[in-house]
Amino acid sequence: MEPREIRPGVYFVGAIDWDRRLFDALIPLPDGTSYNSYLIKGSEKTALIDAVDPAMQAVLINHLSEFGVKNIDYVVANHAEQDHSGTIPLVLGEYPGAKVVTNPKCKDMLIDLLMIPEERFITVSDKEAISLGGSTLEFIYTPWVHWPETMSTYLREEKILFSCDFFGSHLATTDLYVTDEGQVIEAAKRYYAEIMMPYRTSIEKNLVKLKDYAIDIIATSHGPIYDKPASITKAYHSWVFDAPKNIVVLPYISMHSSTRKMVEYFVEALVQRGVTVKQFDLAVTDIGKLAMALVEAATIVIGTPTVLAGAHPNVVSAVFLTNALRPKLRFASVIGSYGWGGRTIEQLVGMMSNLKIEILEPVLSKGFPKEADFAALDNLAATIVEKHKENNFT
Ligand code: FEO
Repeated sequence: MEPREIRPGVYFVGAIDWDRRLFDALIPLPDGTSYNSYLIKGSEKTALIDAVDPAMQAVLINHLSEFGVKNIDYVVANHAEQDHSGTIPLVLGEYPGAKVVTNPKCKDMLIDLLMIPEERFITVSDKEAISLGGSTLEFIYTPWVHWPETMSTYLREEKILFSCDFFGSHLATTDLYVTDEGQVIEAAKRYYAEIMMPYRTSIEKNLVKLKDYAIDIIATSHGPIYDKPASITKAYHSWVFDAPKNIVVLPYISMHSSTRKMVEYFVEALVQRGVTVKQFDLAVTDIGKLAMALVEAATIVIGTPTVLAGAHPNVVSAVFLTNALRPKLRFASVIGSYGWGGRTIEQLVGMMSNLKIEILEPVLSKGFPKEADFAALDNLAATIVEKHKENNFT
């Protein structure tokens, strides 16, 4: 594919990865992804913004070669993670005069991760700019949009923000720009939930910082480019700043139907009381969908049987992930069953120490649930409704 022009002198030279289905050996990618790399030609200098995943290095090098790029002066590294930086050593080999432009923290990480020689770097401070001749790149520190060293690059003359992971979406598409806004915002929400949500406080500060910039285009390093950036900035604003909603997320496992019966009864009890429920059978669920549900939910109720004196391992994994993602949750509880004993409640509550939550009275049935257990589930549903109302979660 020929490099595609975004604005005069600004080109997409990245790679689309249609077939990747897992990121970090953890995150499902149902729609593939892309590694967006951009070439900017000024009247005096040429810069490459981010590289691509090493698996796609041939695509980037071919783009540069087909485009007749004889010289690259600057390789801007907005982020040290290998899906953007992994091909930088190869680019430096192909273009011996090129220097890596990044912040000191990212420089240290790139030396650690990729063994790039120190003399190949130029470090920049927050809001420092370099000129390519008629095109000016300003580097804006945007820490924790994914790692601590992340930054964005702003092309002043064209008002383009190259934000790397920030605002990104794992979506393989031949569309250079967003065409199906609903599809892209959904993919970006998945991305936010899995990658950005743990750093919500930092994202908040970065969104405020970017208000100082007029931005016509957001060119991320995953997914299509936003030529109407209000759609994604508005969505991020809502995910980060809005109060949680009147939603219960209910991840569960059932081995012999006792917990399933409780889940079914409890979901009905909540729905009858006007609460939206998002239910996930962890034996088959896509954890990305669970993460997305956590973006706006006020409450999580975990359903589990008792296995070897504790929660089912799939439940343990989901609760570990929930705690690590630090969603806006305000309340939590546990429902489920046991045969002869166990420490399921203490185990699961102990695993949610990152969350600022109130634990609501759990309901565990001995064996198959009975009348008293269903009554306790009704009480829990009524308590959740009351708590959501008290906090105006609608
Ligand atoms: Fe797309 Fe954090 O790398």
